Amino acid sequence: GRMTKFIHKMKEGDIIGIRGPYGNGFPMEKMEGSNLILVAGGLGMAPLRSVLWYAIDTGKYENVWLLYGTKAYEDILFRDEIIHLLKHGDAMNCSVKLAYEVESPSCIYLERGFSDRVCKGVVTDLFRGEEFDVNNTYALICGPPVMYKFVIRELLDRKLSPGRIYMTLERRMRCGIGKCGHCIVGTSTSIKYVCKDGPVFTYWDALSTRGLI
Ligand code: FES
Repeated sequence: GRMTKFIHKMKEGDIIGIRGPYGNGFPMEKMEGSNLILVAGGLGMAPLRSVLWYAIDTGKYENVWLLYGTKAYEDILFRDEIIHLLKHGDAMNCSVKLAYEVESPSCIYLERGFSDRVCKGVVTDLFRGEEFDVNNTYALICGPPVMYKFVIRELLDRKLSPGRIYMTLERRMRCGIGKCGHCIVGTSTSIKYVCKDGPVFTYWDALSTRGLI
């Protein structure tokens, strides 16, 4: 967008103002002691990265899975970290799986080395063969809007309850402080401001609020 282009034109020493953070976050305390499945698509890796490292650094969670779908090798955010965790994450109770859409020598190389964790396809392909204890697992999702429906279907098929599925819907925000109305979803019986009431919602919220996902 315009803001990103503007930031790219800035020079060292220029001053930038940052406001926030606003809204809620993932309920990290509530999830302590449980398994976490982080499902990221594209830029959705950005908000989930802090969850990933918090879980690894604190060791307060059982097992952590990161299922990450990316367009191409070059598009992997925090690539060095992700590749490092792909190779060595097991020692930190963290399992990384990666799906890519565009073939490249780097992806093929990774797939050869980690055939059970890297594949050509989309993020839902990474659920294949995965089972988890639905009574002790939470799923956290962030990615492009089209991804949510398919990821949630995979989770519900495995009987994870809607209250254990958290989604972050940052894309809908503009002012971030409940003024512009850009992020309002729902009908008169259930209206939500994504910026103030979210951006993190459970799938239960989505079921009761029309247009949330
Ligand atoms: S983003 Fe403006 S009201 Fe929510």
